[in-house]
Amino acid sequence: MKDLFTPYQIKNLELKNRVVMPPMCQYSVTKKDGIANDWHYIHYVSRAIGGAGVIIIEMTDVEPDGRITDYDLGLWSDEQIPAIKRIVDACHQHGAKVAIQIAHAGRKAEDAAVPVAPSPIPFDENSKTPRELTTEEIKEMVEKFRLATERAVKAGVDAIEIHGAHGYLIHQFQSPFTNKRTDEYGQDLTKFGKEVIQAAKSVMPSEMPLIMRVSAVEYVDNGYGLKESVAFSKVYQEAGVDMFHVSAGGEGQIAAHGRPGTHAAYQVPFAREIKEKLNVPVIAVGRLDEPALANAVIGNEEADLVAVGRGMLRNPYWTLEAAATLKKKNTVPTQYSPAFPSRS
Ligand SMILES: Cc1cc2nc3c(=O)[nH]c(=O)nc-3n(C[C@H](O)[C@H](O)[C@H](O)COP(=O)(O)O)c2cc1C
Repeated sequence: MKDLFTPYQIKNLELKNRVVMPPMCQYSVTKKDGIANDWHYIHYVSRAIGGAGVIIIEMTDVEPDGRITDYDLGLWSDEQIPAIKRIVDACHQHGAKVAIQIAHAGRKAEDAAVPVAPSPIPFDENSKTPRELTTEEIKEMVEKFRLATERAVKAGVDAIEIHGAHGYLIHQFQSPFTNKRTDEYGQDLTKFGKEVIQAAKSVMPSEMPLIMRVSAVEYVDNGYGLKESVAFSKVYQEAGVDMFHVSAGGEGQIAAHGRPGTHAAYQVPFAREIKEKLNVPVIAVGRLDEPALANAVIGNEEADLVAVGRGMLRNPYWTLEAAATLKKKNTVPTQYSPAFPSRS
């Protein structure tokens, strides 16, 4: 039976275990130039030393106004490549693979003077009203995603994750709640996402997997549900997505009865559904930081990989400790073997 420490391979991405560090914005680019600094280096490399199979670098934006805040990472310039490469190389040295989440915040770009979006609808009453992108600008945006992906590949990443979740730009296009356009990008809500996927694929080596993060359900009143997300994920799969990273929500204010609570494993049923319906590999995420639970999600084949976010913010060595708790064979850095005597 498979468990959390069974190696995994998708295309030419080979993982030593099933543990993913999901993307988590650090809002730590103090120079506001989108370039990763020592904080990012130490943050990611510690989790590599801590045993994660694959680390997904936080939301990294395709243009300055695509950032949630000016403290976010970017890949809109070649000058931003070396600092990412330094992180990737060091993570590789410690046995972890690295993906990066390529994104645009759209109407959720808080520091943009005028954010852009499919339609001029603000996120909430405290947010700026975004400007509606022209059809021509949408095509330019696809090109920005292509260029950022190309830079990520140059930085040596092992996989790309496109951010199609949490109410950011791609999600804004795929949701009837935020996309009221009448042009081709409104008639087909998946058109923008599809074009981004195809653009990313065009600059990725053919054996490099493309992951897409999706919000499987929306928590606003009358938001889309699992039936719709299975349908649009199928379109994205046909456009070239190799694996889905299944999250939820983020599109607006949560309706009174919108969310059943964030109990342990609360998003696993969504991941399982997309996996089953599309016959596609998935990453499950959301309150999976209890090792036995994470292990069961893999053992029961509800997901192929499990992401542990806040658990890894609390403890960079989450994976090493999970292996010890579950009594699984696992490689421990020699320097730390005295702390894990039976496992090294
Ligand atoms: C500080 C912080 C920053 C986050 N930033 C991102 C991000 O950049 N991209 C993203 O898709 N999700 C982001 N998330 C969501 C996480 O990737 C993850 O889905 C969420 O924390 C639930 O998993 P957990 O219960 O294991 O923490 C962030 C979460 C946290 C706590």
